[in-house]
Amino acid sequence: MSWDPRQLAMLKEIGVLPWEPRDAGPADEGHPQAPAVEAAPAEAPAQPRQAAAPAIPAAPAAARQTPTQEPPQVPPRTTADPASVAPVAVHARRPTGVEQMDWPALREAVAGCQACKLCNGRRNTVFGVGHEQADWMIVGEAPGEQEDLKGEPFVGQAGKLLDNMLRSLALTRSEAPSTHQVFIANVLKCRPPHNRNPEPEEVAQCEPFLQRQVELVQPKIIVAMGRFAVQSLLRTGEPIGRLRGRVHRYHGVPVIVTYHPAYLLRNLPDKAKAWEDLCLAADTAAAASAG
Ligand code: URA
Repeated sequence: MSWDPRQLAMLKEIGVLPWEPRDAGPADEGHPQAPAVEAAPAEAPAQPRQAAAPAIPAAPAAARQTPTQEPPQVPPRTTADPASVAPVAVHARRPTGVEQMDWPALREAVAGCQACKLCNGRRNTVFGVGHEQADWMIVGEAPGEQEDLKGEPFVGQAGKLLDNMLRSLALTRSEAPSTHQVFIANVLKCRPPHNRNPEPEEVAQCEPFLQRQVELVQPKIIVAMGRFAVQSLLRTGEPIGRLRGRVHRYHGVPVIVTYHPAYLLRNLPDKAKAWEDLCLAADTAAAASAG
């Protein structure tokens, strides 16, 4: 296969050497075979990816946008089982009936939410962006300063990297058919002050919103980026390094675990692993579409 200049630029950005696709011959080291799918029903063989990359703006050099750290791992919230995350009691004024809401009601509930102290410091809630029936859903951590200002997720440096990664798979947050336009959401809809880590109670208060978003979108694949997304969706304190490379499930939807783009900006060698994760996500989504 020959790569066009834009695809080569994308692979360079992600930090991966060009490879021969599986349908053109054996996998090489630049594109390892997708690992076995775990806890998933029998699925059709993976479809080849369409890597039609549009023009790619160069992602600026590493600039830390959020305090997201992959390693070291957060201490698990329970001492009984270090790999599990205990539920947190929720007492405050969370909007009721979230699990029944349609899109407009859900947007309104998020916009007016006062269920935790983050409502005091926010300039905007950050609901999410993208196609309401997208095949792909990306779940990040929480808004940072620029997201809080704009009311849109991933608009800073990490967002540029995310957009580039998506573009390499012919995916976009901009208007496109549901097969190509993703839906991007965060675990938290409000910015934690000074970009500190989300607190367990904040995550617990916000979780019904994310759950309802997933129910409404009904994606074929969820990509969980960073440990807070992983902890929230998969209820585990396992490190990302041990969760990558296989398919998990959230309410029946396949979930691929990968590093947070802000972490990748500071840990460039791990971009190659993130690319592998996106390839696995693409294969899994294709299998779900075919099945
Ligand atoms: N990091 C996230 O996890 N989400 C955003 O929206 C921005 C940065």
